[in-house]
Amino acid sequence: MVLGSDGGMACCHYWGPPLPGDTDLDALVAAAAGGITGGMLDALPPLSLVPEARRSFPGQPGLVAFQNGLPLEPDWRLDSADQGDALTLRHVAPGLRLDITIRAMDHGLIGLRARLSSDAAVTLHHLALALPVPAHLSDLTELAGRWTREFQPVTTALDHGARLRDARTGRSGHEHPPHLWLTAPGTTNTGGEVVALHYGWSGGHRMLVEALPDGRRQIQLGHCSGSERAPGTVFETAEIWLARGDRGLNSVAVPFQRAIRDALPPARRPRPVHYNGWEAIYFRHDATELAQIAERAAALGAERFVLDDGWFGRRDDDSSSLGDWTIDPRKHPQGFKPLIDKLRALNMRFGLWFEPEMINEDSDLYRAHPDWVLGPADQIRGRSQLHLDMARDDVRDHLFDLIGGILGAWDIDYVKWDHNRLTPFPDAAQTRGVYALLDRLRAAHPQVEFESCASGGGRIDAGILTRCGRVWLSDSNDAIERLRIQHHAAMLLPACVTGSHVGPRECHTSGRVLPMALRAWTAAQRHMGFEMDPRELTTAEARTLTRVTTWWKANRDWMMAGDIWRLDRPAGSLAEMQLSADGSRMVVFAAQIDAPVALQPPLLRLTGLDPQARYRLTMLEHPVGHHSSSVALSRGAVTLNGAALMAQGVALPPAFPQTIAVIEGTRL
Ligand code: DGJ
Repeated sequence: MVLGSDGGMACCHYWGPPLPGDTDLDALVAAAAGGITGGMLDALPPLSLVPEARRSFPGQPGLVAFQNGLPLEPDWRLDSADQGDALTLRHVAPGLRLDITIRAMDHGLIGLRARLSSDAAVTLHHLALALPVPAHLSDLTELAGRWTREFQPVTTALDHGARLRDARTGRSGHEHPPHLWLTAPGTTNTGGEVVALHYGWSGGHRMLVEALPDGRRQIQLGHCSGSERAPGTVFETAEIWLARGDRGLNSVAVPFQRAIRDALPPARRPRPVHYNGWEAIYFRHDATELAQIAERAAALGAERFVLDDGWFGRRDDDSSSLGDWTIDPRKHPQGFKPLIDKLRALNMRFGLWFEPEMINEDSDLYRAHPDWVLGPADQIRGRSQLHLDMARDDVRDHLFDLIGGILGAWDIDYVKWDHNRLTPFPDAAQTRGVYALLDRLRAAHPQVEFESCASGGGRIDAGILTRCGRVWLSDSNDAIERLRIQHHAAMLLPACVTGSHVGPRECHTSGRVLPMALRAWTAAQRHMGFEMDPRELTTAEARTLTRVTTWWKANRDWMMAGDIWRLDRPAGSLAEMQLSADGSRMVVFAAQIDAPVALQPPLLRLTGLDPQARYRLTMLEHPVGHHSSSVALSRGAVTLNGAALMAQGVALPPAFPQTIAVIEGTRL
C-alpha cells in the first residue's frame, strides 16, 4: 500500500486506512515495491488495493462482506510489510487479516493477490484488489464476444461513473473475458502508453472501472460477486497480472504472450499438426469412414487425430449420455483398437473429447445419481444438459475413475476438455473442483496433454492455462472471423497455445466459402490443424493445404517459441508479424479482408526489429489482386535495414478482398 502524504481525501489516490502516526509507509512500501518490481509500481500512481466502505469513501468498495448478519466494516491498520520472494502487506483489524501480495514476474509483469482471513465465519459478496487509474490513461479497452465471435475489442472513454462487468456464468466466458487495457488516447499497436490487466481465474470475475467526481479513478478485479456461496474464514482473489508499456499495445501483448507461454504445462514434443473430426462427422462414428478420414488427414500432413463428441454412452445427438464415459459398443465394437492401430500405421497420435463437468438427464449417471446435479430441478437447461456439482468429492472421484480408466486403457495422449453450458449460479467451489480434478488426472496420466474448450473460447485465462497447453479459441472456422479473433487474442495468447483449424469449404457457422490459401494461412499463424472432411478437398485445395502445412512444420519450432507483433493497418485489413525469440527470423501475414480503402495499400511498417540489422524479405504467398509491377516484393527478394522497415515500411501489391500476403524474413 502506497499512501498519500496526508492519508486523507486531499490526496487524490488514497482510499485506504489511516496512516499509523509513526510509520513512513510511503517510503517503506515504495522501497519494497521498487525493489521487487524493478520500479514498475513507481510508474503507476499510488496503489490503494482494497477500498473500504467505511470512512466516507464515495466509490465502490473492494470488500463487501457480512458477519453475524451485519456489514463487515473493518478498521484496518497496516501491520507489516514483509519482503520475501514477494512483498506482503498485512493489514489487521480485530479478528481479521488482509494480506496483499505483490510479486515481480518475468517479462516485467507484476502479480497481485489479496487474501482475507477471519477468526469467525464471514459471508463474502466480493473481494477485489483495486488499482488507481492514472489520469492520462483515459481510454478503456475491454473484450466483448459471443459464441463464434470471441475476443472483440471495445474501447470507451473513461469519463464518469462506474462500468461493471460481473461474469456470473461459471467460466471466464465469451461475453466479458478477464482482460482490460487502459490506454492514452491515440494508442496504436506500435505507439502509446498502456497498462494491461488480466484476472487469472476460470470461474467468472468481477471487473469494475470507476471515475469519481473528485478525480479519483479506480479499477477493481476479483472473483464475480456472490461466487463464494458458503460462509468461511479464508477468501482469496486469483492473481491479477499487470503489465505496463509505452510503445503501444505490443509492448504489453508480447510480455503477456511470454508469461502465458512460461505458465503452460511443458509440451513434450513440437506441436503436432492437429486433426479434429467434429465438423467432418459430428455424432456419426463409422469405422470405415474414420479410417478413410485418418488416411486423408495424414496425407495432408496431420500428426494427431482427435475423436470429438459422440464416442460414448449412446450419444447420437446432444441430448443424451454426458456422464456415461464408456465407449459406445454400437459405434466402436472393438473399442478404440481399430482406430488406434490405423493411426499408429499412419504415424499419428490419438486424442479424445470429454465434457467432464456435465450430465444429461438421459444418462445412466443421472439415473443413478440425480442428486449429483448442481442447482435446482427447475433450472433452465442449456444444450439439454445440466452441470455436475464439482465441489463434491464423490463426483470428482467418480469422474477421475471413469476418465482415468479410459486414459489408462488406451494409447491416448491428448484430451479436449469441453464445457458447453453455464453454471446455474456463480460458484467458486465449482472452479476449485475442476482445477482439482484436472490436476489429479494430469498427475496420474502425465503423458496426456489437455486442451481447454468451452463452446469454443469460453474458458481462456491464466488459471486454466497453467493446466492446459492449448485452447480451442472459437467454434468459428471461418478464416475471416478467425483472423480477427486470433489477432485480438494475441493481446494475451502466444501462437503455441492457440488452436486454429482449416474448416469445411462452406463454413458451418457462417456459410461463407473462402479460398484455401486464406484458410490454410490463417490456421498456419497459430497451432495449425484441420477440421473438415478431407475427402471434400479438390486436388488444387489439397495441394495448397499440403504446401502450407509443410511450411508450417518446417517453421513451427521457432514460431511456437516466438512473439506475435500486431501491425497497424487501415480498416478492412489485418497484419501481424511473428518474430523468433532470437530475432533472426520472421514471417508477416497481411490479410485483406474487405475491399481496400486505397487502390495502392499503404506501406507495411514492421516493428520489434533491430534498427541497425539488415533483413531480407521474400514473398511466400502473393495475394490475388491487380498486378502491380512497381512493387519490389512482387518481383523478388528485398533487403532493407530494420530502421527503414519500421519507419517507412515495405510496399505490398494491391490485394482483392479475402486474400493474404505472406512474407518471410531473415536477419542477415
Ligand atoms: C463444442 C466445441 O466447441 C466443439 O468444438 C465440439 O467439441 C462440440 N462442443 C462437441 O459437442
